[in-house]
Amino acid sequence: MISRETIEEILMRTDIQSLVGQYVTLKRAGSNLRGLCPFHSEKSPSFTVYPADNSFYCFGCGVGGDQISFAMRMEHLDYPDAIEFLAKRAGITIVETDNKRYSNEPKYDKARFYQMNVDAARFFNNYLFSSDPEARAALSYFTEKRQLTIATIKHFGLGFAPNSFDTFTRHMLAKGYTRDELVAAYLCRKHDEKGHVYDAFRNRVMFPVIDVAGNVIAFGGRVMDDSKPKYLNSSDTPVFKKSRNLFALNFAKQTCQDEIVLCEGYMDVIAMHAAGITNSVATLGTAITSEQARVLSRYTKRVIISYDADEAGRKAAQRALGLLEEVGLEVSVLSVPGAKDPDEYIKTFGVEKFKEVISGAKSKFDYKLDGVLGRYDISLPQDRIDALGEVEKMISQVYSAAERDVYIREVAAKFSVDFSSIRSDVDRIREKNAQKYKRDESKRVKESTVGYFDTVNPDYIKAPAVAKNEENVLGLLLLYPDHRKRVFTEGLLDADCFVTGLNKRVFEFLASAFASGDDHLVSINEVFTQDEVGRIMKMKTARLELSNDADSLMVSISSLKRSVENHSSGQTKTMDELARIIQRKQQENK
Ligand code: CTP
Ligand code: MN
Repeated sequence: MISRETIEEILMRTDIQSLVGQYVTLKRAGSNLRGLCPFHSEKSPSFTVYPADNSFYCFGCGVGGDQISFAMRMEHLDYPDAIEFLAKRAGITIVETDNKRYSNEPKYDKARFYQMNVDAARFFNNYLFSSDPEARAALSYFTEKRQLTIATIKHFGLGFAPNSFDTFTRHMLAKGYTRDELVAAYLCRKHDEKGHVYDAFRNRVMFPVIDVAGNVIAFGGRVMDDSKPKYLNSSDTPVFKKSRNLFALNFAKQTCQDEIVLCEGYMDVIAMHAAGITNSVATLGTAITSEQARVLSRYTKRVIISYDADEAGRKAAQRALGLLEEVGLEVSVLSVPGAKDPDEYIKTFGVEKFKEVISGAKSKFDYKLDGVLGRYDISLPQDRIDALGEVEKMISQVYSAAERDVYIREVAAKFSVDFSSIRSDVDRIREKNAQKYKRDESKRVKESTVGYFDTVNPDYIKAPAVAKNEENVLGLLLLYPDHRKRVFTEGLLDADCFVTGLNKRVFEFLASAFASGDDHLVSINEVFTQDEVGRIMKMKTARLELSNDADSLMVSISSLKRSVENHSSGQTKTMDELARIIQRKQQENK
């Protein structure tokens, strides 16, 4: 756990204007700043930064929050990582107070561990280029056997761990690291009870693992012959959790917005990056975990699984497919015929051929077509008609007319049906869909104006009048610590005054923050999802320009209470009834 004081200090030392300014060009707009939203595409700026209370809100897409929320979204980090990211940026050292996993162990200084790993990586990298004959052999392993260029070796910071008992250990001790720290970082092993330690990695070529913030967090070391174990990898350390990191994501994060290639091995990824496929990453020697899947889902939309061609690889791909789809990613599986893994494939057939394989996987249409054909026997007339119907529906969803024609031609040949008759079927389906879309769209517009379709606070629809009043009061409380103080010390409101789920939780959050003396609401990003934080910002900004004195607080509170009474005494039943009817209609239309 990171202490509240630390988070407060990070927030205090992180000026929202300069943080956002690193990514967005901001222009003055009154006392605030405005720019083009980095989270959705827009032509006129609706992304607003409020320097007065270090927050931001986009009137276009509804994202918002404080400095931590911004880092989470912008750098694709989860809450603890965003804190670490901002701490590093502000030059603050985080000392974990009570980490369950290490609670029985001494407390380690993370910044020191990062430095220790950097020093280790430098040592291995320097050693690789040293005149030690064994280092020369290691270098030629990389350059000749694995065909890596010096540039690639440098890019990935590859290295060599000398074939020695404690050359590395002595180097690190001389730098001031303790034996304890070296063992905890998985760089050294205990030799005896007297506390002597020796090099954990010996006579291995070294692959540093770097996290998305650029810290060296772990190492993998490979033997250069057939001895076992082939790879030795760091276990979890105070700065490394194997189950949630991915090799090369620090590079891939620049280019993987649309899709990412997921591999098994370090060497696969290195070969791909060297060949210009920089949107590839690898799991760290184990099957992909659900945590890693979640991490990927924050960076990309589509994953192309590119595992080894053996039985184990196929099985692992099957498992990965499930985990990745579970987190909402679109997935396809690549097969690399004629090679044991992607690395070998690229070496044997060249990167252009490999790219063709990738774009083959990209053609989702073929993949889906195979799926349909697998379910029908198109030599039977009825099956053939049904299958064709499904395929036509698929084609009708393709946006580009030229692309549709390509598919139609393909299908016409496969089904031995006339091109033009498939095309007229497809056009008819498209026309029908367009009409339905128009109807749905006008319905959506109507409904959204009365607050239906609220995914962030689904209860809104059940009691819109109350929800509006709740948001009004919460906006005032969120904006002004003085109002919170008054409400909570005088007991002017309690959780029963709140009917909708999200708003009740916001009120309870404010109450417990007040009780614990947390004026800055530092844990808001821990307690609420990012969509919820955006909604909370909306409540704040809605009250920003309105009067905010004690009187208006009292007026807002009493109108909230009145609306709650009306709601519970059934006066709003008609409204609820209406909502239910609409919901039922929506279900029927599905
Ligand atoms: N791995 C491991 N420990 C092993 C074997 C493999 O941690 N004993 C991990 C490594 O991360 C490795 C990945 O699993 O990169 C894939 O294994 P494999 O296909 O055997 O290795 P490659 O990286 O393809 O190595 P190479 O091409 O050098 O054979
Ligand atoms: Mn492999």
